[in-house]
Amino acid sequence: MPLRTAAARRHAGALPSLCALALALAGCSRDQYPQTALLPLSDFARIGDHVQDQTFYWALGVFILVEGALLYSVFRFRGRPDDPEPSQIHGNTTIEIIWTLIPALILAAIAVPTVKGIFETSRTPPDAMTIEVIGHQWWWEFHYPDAGVTTANEMYIPAGRTVELVINSGDVVHSFWPPRFAGKRDVFPGRETRLWWKADSTGLFPGQCAEYCGIQHARMAFYVRSVSSTDFDAWIGHMQTLGPKAPPAPATAPAGDSLKTASAGGNVRAPQTAPAAQKDTAAAAPVPRGTEYAQGEKLFMTKGCMGCHSLQAVKAPKGLIGPNLANVGARSHIAAGWLKNTDENLERWIREPQAVKKGVLMPNLGVTEVESRALRAYLRAHQ
Ligand code: CUA
Repeated sequence: MPLRTAAARRHAGALPSLCALALALAGCSRDQYPQTALLPLSDFARIGDHVQDQTFYWALGVFILVEGALLYSVFRFRGRPDDPEPSQIHGNTTIEIIWTLIPALILAAIAVPTVKGIFETSRTPPDAMTIEVIGHQWWWEFHYPDAGVTTANEMYIPAGRTVELVINSGDVVHSFWPPRFAGKRDVFPGRETRLWWKADSTGLFPGQCAEYCGIQHARMAFYVRSVSSTDFDAWIGHMQTLGPKAPPAPATAPAGDSLKTASAGGNVRAPQTAPAAQKDTAAAAPVPRGTEYAQGEKLFMTKGCMGCHSLQAVKAPKGLIGPNLANVGARSHIAAGWLKNTDENLERWIREPQAVKKGVLMPNLGVTEVESRALRAYLRAHQ
């Protein structure tokens, strides 16, 4: 029938356009999605990406062959009203052996890089630097045991050096997932898991808890800050100055960029320093701490913040409910990766955590706007 043939031709003509559209949409710039495992930035991530690529290309080949054979048969052998009854067949041993053998061979071909990848990723390369990771509802704690440093929610790593994560949970089951650097790793209470990688790029990269762990599971994020080896050593050195009970502040600050406080917070930077100013290694003029800072310090001690948070990066008490805040003022995000670390967000987070992240273990403490400004000034100084 000429009509059916014309309709079929029209549909066949639309197929390439549809394919092109699907490809164009699928290619909507992977770069817009920083939390992707498709742009690996470490040796570990590349192993997984290689397996994924191999599987994808085999699947693509199978798809093209099977769909091609299907479409060819549909159009080449379509029935016409006056066609005779086709010959009836009941099985063909040769064909059945072939189409059993081919998938078996393809699966074997996929199994080789998969099994190889499993063995490669389960062996930590020697000379890895250990970072202890503890999952909490709903934030991440990071210890650097060699340096004796603790931080939270933003993990510093040196690019070009292998890190090995020793992972535990403080409460329920989580899953640690830094997609640009490695695959997911389950996080259990009372059972250690490990993950390693060597980053080959610097930058700030998001990660996420990947196992449902309660009401704020989706907002249990973190950031990996990959920096050069030199910058990493400098950061560790700086963090090691954020210790307990620093001596009272001298009249003028010594060379360097930190001021001392007599609070449990150890050393702090001038409160006016912007969080982004990470590399202000030039000796900064000492900035007098304002009344806001002093009020904030007092509020931090009296409002109950001390019960859950430590402001020390070294000798930080273990087992605290809340994230370590030693360098909170310098972190890119607060509330476990949920909010950008702006003054406005920090104040709101202090004022009404239950509105920002419902169910979070930090209660609304009845902090007024004025008080939240003071607390923000105090915490911002902790960099
Ligand atoms: Cu922790 Cu989901």
